[in-house]
Amino acid sequence: MAKLTVKDLDVRGKRVLVRVDFNVPMEEKDGQMVVTDVTRIKETLPTLDLLVKGGAKILLASHLGRPKGRIEPSLSLRPVAARLAEMLHRPVEFVDDCIGDPVAQAAAAMPPGTIILLENVRFHAQEEANDPAFAEQMARVAEVYVNDAFGSAHRAHASTEGVARVVAQRGGRCAAGLLMERELKFLGDELEQPAKPFVVILGGAKVSDKITVIDRLLEKADTLLIGGAMAYTFRLAQGWQVGKSLVEADKVDVAKSALAKAKARNVPFLLPVDDVVATPVKTDQLNKKGKPIVDWQNPRTNSDRNCPPDAAGLDIGPATIQAYCEVIARAQTILWNGPMGLFENKHFAAGTNAVAQAVADATRKGAKSIIGGGDSVKALNQAGLGNQVTFMSTGGGASLEFLEGRVLPGVAALSDQGGCGGCGH
Ligand code: 3PG
Ligand code: MG
Repeated sequence: MAKLTVKDLDVRGKRVLVRVDFNVPMEEKDGQMVVTDVTRIKETLPTLDLLVKGGAKILLASHLGRPKGRIEPSLSLRPVAARLAEMLHRPVEFVDDCIGDPVAQAAAAMPPGTIILLENVRFHAQEEANDPAFAEQMARVAEVYVNDAFGSAHRAHASTEGVARVVAQRGGRCAAGLLMERELKFLGDELEQPAKPFVVILGGAKVSDKITVIDRLLEKADTLLIGGAMAYTFRLAQGWQVGKSLVEADKVDVAKSALAKAKARNVPFLLPVDDVVATPVKTDQLNKKGKPIVDWQNPRTNSDRNCPPDAAGLDIGPATIQAYCEVIARAQTILWNGPMGLFENKHFAAGTNAVAQAVADATRKGAKSIIGGGDSVKALNQAGLGNQVTFMSTGGGASLEFLEGRVLPGVAALSDQGGCGGCGH
């Protein structure tokens, strides 16, 4: 059933707790944390504008990073409050907790049409545990609950799920924000009966991350185009040599059954026919996550489907690019999730950039293009084409789970349209 949305509510003078996903990339500059990509903040502005105009007293809650229940100063949302204020052209007050007296006092004093951002909900371990008492405390200031955090809707946490239940049990309304509504429309309704040909482009490192999506989309898609390291697990399944390419040897059976399903359903399932390979050489340096940085030497096009034993495949090759772009050019609906290669490195970005350009070109000619979040969004933005597609999701894990057909707990907890609250009430 369709969910209640923020447009259906009369919020005048009411305290509205809005869960947003302000889990944005940040970097330290001159001793201060600054937001390096404001997309997720920008996408919530329509909801916030609507609530301000409607005269709501707006309390925003979000997580940032994974502090695991501890106060981690570098993961404070305070810098986000400043950035949001700039973007909204109105003040945003910051309260350095998300529950308790400081929140209650600030909420009691706020005039209609004003905004408070609460501190990172994950500074409390009870958030991720979806602790009912903690949800109850968070709900204390909420007469209405709005969830605009699609990117976090796959988490059954206190601020995404528990608090909605508390508000609904009190007879309060729990509605989707405008961003949430758009995400559900494009990743859900629009793909129910897509205009054909419907072309699905899937990339990224792991078959295991995408296999449920592949399985589901094989029932709807006219063609699947596969790129990224996961293509090598499919190659392994077909008996080719993969050299040092990233593969999931234990997922070969999964890959085989997807290939068999595509064949049985007569759905073209295209794998790269050539690639760009390079020889990995370990360096002494470690990356931010503490893993050794690999130097990719001698990048070269490889037109044999067998990968040389000393090399790894890192991008789709020119013949594959051409074949994929021809398919994309004929599409009426396109769903893209996952890059074609290691696009952060310019030697291995050509495939992802070419696909990005082909998707933008097809969109200009009338196709509907939906980008399923995460790295493909990053790649489109890097190519300067972010504004040339129909829809880019703000979700990563959430988009994938939704495309898998799973019920997202943060959505399930919202009130049904015409109903009187969430959770079956
Ligand atoms: C994301 O960026 O994927 C969302 O904000 C959810 O964050 P999480 O994966 O740490 O739950
Ligand atoms: Mg995630």
